[in-house]
Amino acid sequence: MSVIDCVRVRHSYTPATPVLHDVDLAIGDGERVALLGRSGSGKSTLVRAMLALEPLASGAIHCDGRVVTPGPVRRLRWFRRLVQYVPQDPGATLDPQARVLDIVAEPLRRLCGVTDRARLTAAAATVLEAVGLPAALHTVRARDLSGGQAQRVAIARALAPEPRLLIADEPISGLDAPLRAHVIDALRHASASRGTALLLVTHDVSAAAALSDRIAVMHDGRIVEDRRTGDLLAAPDHPETRALLAAVPRFPA
Ligand SMILES: Nc1ncnc2c1ncn2[C@@H]1O[C@H](COP(=O)(O)OP(=O)(O)OP(=O)(O)O)[C@@H](O)[C@H]1O
Ligand SMILES: [Mg+2]
Repeated sequence: MSVIDCVRVRHSYTPATPVLHDVDLAIGDGERVALLGRSGSGKSTLVRAMLALEPLASGAIHCDGRVVTPGPVRRLRWFRRLVQYVPQDPGATLDPQARVLDIVAEPLRRLCGVTDRARLTAAAATVLEAVGLPAALHTVRARDLSGGQAQRVAIARALAPEPRLLIADEPISGLDAPLRAHVIDALRHASASRGTALLLVTHDVSAAAALSDRIAVMHDGRIVEDRRTGDLLAAPDHPETRALLAAVPRFPA
């Protein structure tokens, strides 16, 4: 059964400019999918629609065989427990006054009912260690974190309640090369050890290659190709996929 299933999803911010056109995308249990596309292709809009954070013009989102949307968003506690999300600008979603350990412990308390202080702290520290955040930073306030540190705290917060699916929107784009490798390892580990399904949103082909079983390519609000990662990289079908694979950054000497 799919953890999440998008069925002919349409979305417009303004009536004149549709952003998503009949998008179908399903993610199976434990599957790792990369949503690859250039800037403005609609990747973040699609994940926000999948999370019922954007109303659909038409179509439906199902999770674990149940309807997520259309329907009342107030009744989605079960869904918020199963599907965790790291937004594209995660620093903005952290309470600046809150301390790192409390930020990561909070979903364990709210969604998993853990109340024991020592258990919360130990669980939060374990997951922070997995994303490479040194113990010295566990007690600092969010306002004092760098962008890359805040990004790893947001990933740790999303992994802490052991979701069935983690949706991460550009989770490594603000990180330097060693930290990228660390976060990719942490996501791989979550998927291998707990069977967490992943939806990795990225415009970076190498990140998609490193962390996915399947790549769905998005272009102008449509999924234009959706195949096994190895097959797609070896023989891209769609011109947009070929363009993305050929685009190697070039900098003047
Ligand atoms: N709140 C909004 N109101 C109006 N238009 C929006 C809004 N958010 C996004 N858009 C438009 O929708 C389109 C898709 O944007 P989206 O953020 O989904 O792209 P993306 O693929 O995530 O890009 P990036 O890789 O730069 O993050 C763009 O044309 C964008 O300008
Ligand atoms: Mg985006």
